[in-house]
Formats: sequence, structure tokens, C-alpha cells
Amino acid sequence: MKNPPIIFFAFILHLSASCAQRQVYIVYFGEHNGEKTLREIEDTHYSYLVSVKDSKEEAKASLIYSYKNIINGFSALLTPDEAAKLLEMDEVVSVFHSHPRKYSVQTTRSWDFVNLLDGIGGMNHSNQEELLIKASYGKEAIVGLLDTGIWPQSQSFSDEGMEPIPKSWKGICQHGVAFNSSHCYRKLIGARYYLKGYEAIYGPLNNLENYRSPRDKSGHGTHTASTVGGRRVANASALGGFANGTASGGAPLVRIAMYKVCWQVPGQDQGGACLDDDMLAAFDDAIADGVQVLSVSIVSFNSTPYTEDVIAIGSWHAVKRNIAVACSAGNSGPLSSTVTNVAPWIITVAASSIDRVFTSPVLLGNDMKVEGQTMPPYKLKKLNPLVYAGDAEIPGTTTNATTGRCRNGTLSSKVVEGKIVLCLRGKRNDILKGLEVRRAGGAAIIAVNPINGSGILVNTHLLPGTTIFSNDSATVLNNINNTKSPMATIIPAKTALGSKSAPFMAPFSSWGPIGIEPNILKPDISAPGLNILAAWSEASSPTSLSADHRVTKYNIVSGTSMSCPHVAAAAALLKAIHPDWSSAAIRSTKHQGLTSRIPTMLAPN
Ligand SMILES: *[C@@H]1O[C@H](CO)[C@@H](O)[C@H](O)[C@H]1NC(C)=O
Ligand SMILES: *[C@@H]1O[C@H](CO)[C@@H](O)[C@H](O)[C@H]1NC(C)=O
Ligand SMILES: *[C@@H]1O[C@H](CO)[C@@H](O)[C@H](O)[C@H]1NC(C)=O
Ligand SMILES: *[C@@H]1O[C@H](CO)[C@@H](O)[C@H](O)[C@H]1NC(C)=O
Ligand SMILES: *[C@@H]1O[C@H](CO)[C@@H](O)[C@H](O)[C@H]1NC(C)=O
Ligand SMILES: *[C@@H]1O[C@H](CO)[C@@H](O)[C@H](O)[C@H]1NC(C)=O
Ligand SMILES: *[C@@H]1O[C@H](CO)[C@@H](O)[C@H](O)[C@H]1NC(C)=O
Ligand SMILES: *[C@@H]1O[C@H](CO)[C@@H](O)[C@H](O)[C@H]1NC(C)=O
Ligand SMILES: *[C@@H]1O[C@H](CO)[C@@H](O)[C@H](O)[C@H]1NC(C)=O
Repeated sequence: MKNPPIIFFAFILHLSASCAQRQVYIVYFGEHNGEKTLREIEDTHYSYLVSVKDSKEEAKASLIYSYKNIINGFSALLTPDEAAKLLEMDEVVSVFHSHPRKYSVQTTRSWDFVNLLDGIGGMNHSNQEELLIKASYGKEAIVGLLDTGIWPQSQSFSDEGMEPIPKSWKGICQHGVAFNSSHCYRKLIGARYYLKGYEAIYGPLNNLENYRSPRDKSGHGTHTASTVGGRRVANASALGGFANGTASGGAPLVRIAMYKVCWQVPGQDQGGACLDDDMLAAFDDAIADGVQVLSVSIVSFNSTPYTEDVIAIGSWHAVKRNIAVACSAGNSGPLSSTVTNVAPWIITVAASSIDRVFTSPVLLGNDMKVEGQTMPPYKLKKLNPLVYAGDAEIPGTTTNATTGRCRNGTLSSKVVEGKIVLCLRGKRNDILKGLEVRRAGGAAIIAVNPINGSGILVNTHLLPGTTIFSNDSATVLNNINNTKSPMATIIPAKTALGSKSAPFMAPFSSWGPIGIEPNILKPDISAPGLNILAAWSEASSPTSLSADHRVTKYNIVSGTSMSCPHVAAAAALLKAIHPDWSSAAIRSTKHQGLTSRIPTMLAPN
């Protein structure tokens, strides 16, 4: 991440200082020609290793994955010298490090807003349901996701009334901790997990922080999967009746297959790692299993050549077999050349707003109203003393650069007790700032949106609070500076639909142009990604922080991770309507059919 203010809603990975002599490399040969048996393929991979290692035993011990279905390659522990020797061999296309990637987080309303489902609030619904009915709600289509796993008991994944699994399906339901074949049926038709690459870097999986199975500990994968294909669930709401309405995936009858490739990293709240060699194994299986669309809400590195980028490689083999692949563009906007997953054969998805806001303005003592948005519906007194965090700090706990940011242990209870506290934006998560205000006995937090421009990222604070636009923080500060005893209240949040300014690009959504190939325009398309409601893991909290013990079946989060599955669902519906269309045709449809039918999926300029 190059942009510190938004660091906390893209789950960030801090690389551990592993880097010993031997590292995990992927050795890539291209495609299998179908002439060898699985056994022969593994033997061939093994013989390459033997040719650079001192002994057969060492070669055997260093092999991690042998990719045998479609993708030809293997991953192994190698020294830089061994990697260099392999790269010199004729058959070898590329040899590169297996890196950990991150997944990028930072739906009732979003599908209404794009006119696929019945909606309320100001849209023209003459086309509503038309696409869905034509596509039979996607019942013949199979969408695979590479993600953090799935919470199979969510009502969004109910099998009720669904027809038998399509005959073409070859996938499996891999059993593991708290997950067995009874968790797959006609909605979730396949589930697998991959962690050999993870364990080669991070050591044995910590079972307290993860399920060694396709079950989701994070919430991210459950959210993306239910955005693609969740059933219609009435009265789905996150935390206290917010965003209530019928939750539904874009293709409510589509079949879902989860390939769990991302794992929590011990000691890291909101963190996770998806290893390249685990992902390549998942692509290889998903293609062989028979998915028709792949949704990958995982961020790449933005200047990696395609032959060293597993998402580019995996999706190349997928698209060659007519599988459409949607990937998130990344959450590093609004800065130029931050877009990732830029291979021309990928549908690269940016994020934009929907017309739902959670208004919760700040009312200052002089009756001035400052726009704000928040999630939980807390009530505050009519007038509360208001203080700027920078005026309430324990001396010596902050520097000029950290003052006013509500860092841990900085606020003085004597000053803050019972007051609303204005915390300036800083690198840390606003939820943690709220926890500091709560620790010091404050009544509420006013947080400042971490990004400039339109679009507030709502927070599920653990105390009363709201988030104001970044340009409005000076207004509140001025009021505090110029008033003898400043007072304020936060008006309890209301869900408001039909916001006139929607859709606009979410300010965090990554921008083109592409560093490595300026002639290709990316992202390709934009879809809802700001404050999106969808199903969540009950083993996680709404904020994914260990300090948060709340449990929710539905949650609101933001990111291009959330917009990507919207496009995957649309692609699945198009596949259902036009089984003869190639993935390239579906990718280019954004310029005609998709944009006219789904008005908010705008191609960004
Ligand atoms: C709604 O859309 C239909 C067809 O797309 C169009 O004929 C009609 O004029 C639109 N109505 C409004 C109020 O925009
Ligand atoms: C699968 O797990 C459930 C509990 O989650 C259990 O009731 C069931 O017996 C298990 N089924 C098999 C086949 O192991
Ligand atoms: C949804 O909630 C409303 C109000 O609480 C209730 O009247 C309605 O019956 C509920 N609908 C369903 C399908 O549960
Ligand atoms: C649900 O949303 C509707 C508007 O769509 C609102 O009128 C109603 O009060 C909400 N219900 C709850 C329980 O928040
Ligand atoms: C902090 O800011 C004050 C006034 O704005 C200034 O006098 C002081 O030199 C600054 N301290 C540092 C360490 O920059
Ligand atoms: C700050 O406090 C929160 C809980 O209040 C805790 O989860 C977090 O780890 C603390 N951070 C640091 C850097 O101490
Ligand atoms: C946001 O706006 C402020 C004030 O206009 C400016 O100082 C800051 O550099 C901007 N930040 C970003 C990331 O654009
Ligand atoms: C700050 O930005 C918001 C949204 O862009 C706007 O509604 C508001 O009027 C702005 N405030 C000021 C003080 O310019
Ligand atoms: C308000 O006062 C603080 C110091 O307490 C100062 O840093 C800030 O610039 C002032 N803000 C405005 C808008 O005057």
C-alpha cells in the first residue's frame, strides 16, 4: 500500500522476516498436452528438481505442489541458485517467488440499485428482473471463488427448492475442521482448501485463528460468495436493523464452489495471506472441476510480468477454457497507476457507490449540521460536551505528527469523560480510535473519513460515533476553537435510499493507467463496492478485530473485493442466457448489454 490513510480497509499483510536461504518458488511450464498420466507428470516435475538438488531425498522433501490438471508447473523450496538453473532450461517459461497476497476489503441494496431485483427508491424499474428471468436466476451456472472460505450455514446459502447439481460438475467437498460433506449440497456444490504454501512460509496453521477446512474464519469469503449467489433472505440486516431489506446475490440460484486460499495470519487483526502457490493449485482445480466463472477478490502486485503473476497465469488457462474471470482492481486509489490484476483477459473491477446512505449528522451547539454516516443505531443525549482529541491528551504521549489521532493510551480520562471526541484521521483504523475514546470514558467519537472526496466508509463502532467528510473536520475544529464550552450531539443513523449523487467512483478504488502496459485501459468496469451488505462468518466479528466480540450474520464492508463478485454474478447470468458466448464476448459486453441493463456498472473514464 502506498497510501497510508486507507491502510486499514485493505487487509494488509506485514511480511514476516522469514527469508531464509531457501524460499518457495513456482516453476511454470505452460499447459499440459494431455499425453501424460498424473503419475508421469509428478515424476517429470520431480526429475527437474532432482537435476538441481544434491539428492533424491532432498528433491522429494522440497516439492510442495505439482500442478497436474491443466496448468503445468510445480512449487518447491529452492535456493536462488537452483531457481536460476531451472530458469535456464528450455521447457521452463518462468521461475518466480511464491508471494503472499492480500485480500482487499476495505447485499440488500446493491442489486436493487443496479436494477436486477425489485427495488425501492427512485430508480426506473421497467427492466427489473428481466435479465434474471431470462437467465433462470443463474441456476445452470457455476461460479468458483478464490477466497477465505465460506460459512455454509448462512441462510444465504440455503438449498431449499434447488434442482440437482449440474451433471458437468466434477468438484468435491473437502472435509476438514468443522466442515464435512454434509455442508455441500445444491447451492454450495464444492469446497476445497489449500494451505501447503501458507504453511511453508508461516509454519503450521494455528487452529485457533483458522479452520483447517473450507470454513471461513474471516467473513470476507462468505461476503463475496453471497454477493455472487446468495439466496433471497428477507429482513437481512447488519447490527440492529440497518440496511434491512431482502438480501440477495446477483444470481440467486447460481451454484457456488469455494476454493479457500487465504488464511488469517497469527497475531494480525484483519490480516490475511493468500500464497501464490496455493492460488495456482486452486485455479488448476477450479478449471478441472468445471466452474464457468471465477471471482477473485485478491489484489496483485501492480508491475509483475504476466508470466510471474499467478492470477494472470491462472486466469489465462481459465479463459482459454472459456471460463470468465473477474478480479478486484485494488483499493489504493485515488492515485494514478494503482490498478492491479491488469492482464487483458481478466475483467478488472473497480468500485463505486450505491444510492443508500446511513445518515448520522453531527449537530453542533450553534445548530450547525455537519454531514456524517455511521452503522450502529446508538442514541446520545441532546447536548454533550465536545472536545478535540488534541486538546485532551496526556502530556508526552503524542508528537506533532500524532496529536489528535486518538492513539492507544493518549487520551486523558479527566478531560474526555462523558464528552464527544473529535479524532483526526491517521493511519489507524477508526474502530481502534473509538476504543481509545471508550477506554478514556468518552461518550462518542467523531471520526474523519480516511479518504478525500465523496463517499464515507461507514464504521461499525463499538460506541456511539459517526464519520464526517474529510473536508468538514476543519468546520468542527473551528467550532471547538471558537466556542467557550462547545457542545454537540450525533443524530441516530437512518438508512436513506435514493441518494441523488450515486453512483460515483469510490475514492479508494484503484486507478489506471497500467505501469507495465500503457496501451491497455484498466479497470474495465465498475460495480457497487461502497458499504455493501452481505452474509458474514459467525466466527468473526463485524470489524474482524479481536477486541470486538459481536457476532453478526450480515455485515457491511467496502472494497473492490465487494464489487468483483457483482460482476462475476452478471457474467454468470450472461453465460446462462448465451451459453455460446465466449468469455471474451462476455468481457466486452460491458460496453453494450451490461451497461444498458445494469446502469450503475459504469466504465470509469
Ligand atoms: C424507464 O425506462 C423505460 C425503458 O427503459 C423508458 O421507456 C421510460 O421512459 C423510463 N421511465 C423514466 C421515468 O425514466
Ligand atoms: C458433519 O458434521 C455435522 C456437524 O456439523 C454432523 O452432524 C454430521 O454427522 C457430520 N457428517 C458426517 C458425514 O461426518
Ligand atoms: C420482516 O420484519 C417485519 C418487521 O419486523 C415483519 O413484519 C415481517 O413479517 C418480516 N418478514 C419476514 C419474511 O420475516
Ligand atoms: C427497514 O427499512 C425501511 C425502509 O426501507 C424502513 O422504513 C423501516 O423502518 C426499516 N425497519 C427497521 C426495523 O429498521
Ligand atoms: C511542534 O509544533 C509546534 C507549534 O506548531 C512547534 O513550535 C514545534 O517546534 C513542533 N515540534 C516539532 C518536534 O516539530
Ligand atoms: C490498542 O488497543 C486495542 C484495544 O483497545 C488493542 O486491540 C490494540 O492491540 C492496541 N494497539 C496497540 C498498538 O497497543
Ligand atoms: C486530502 O486533502 C488534504 C487537504 O486538502 C490534503 O492535504 C491531502 O494531501 C489530501 N490527501 C490525499 C491522499 O489526497
Ligand atoms: C465537504 O464535502 C461534502 C461532500 O463532498 C460536501 O457535501 C460538503 O458540503 C463539503 N463541506 C465543505 C465545508 O466544503
Ligand atoms: C484549532 O486549535 C488547534 C489547537 O488547539 C489548532 O491545531 C487548529 O489548527 C485550530 N483549528 C482551526 C480550524 O482553527
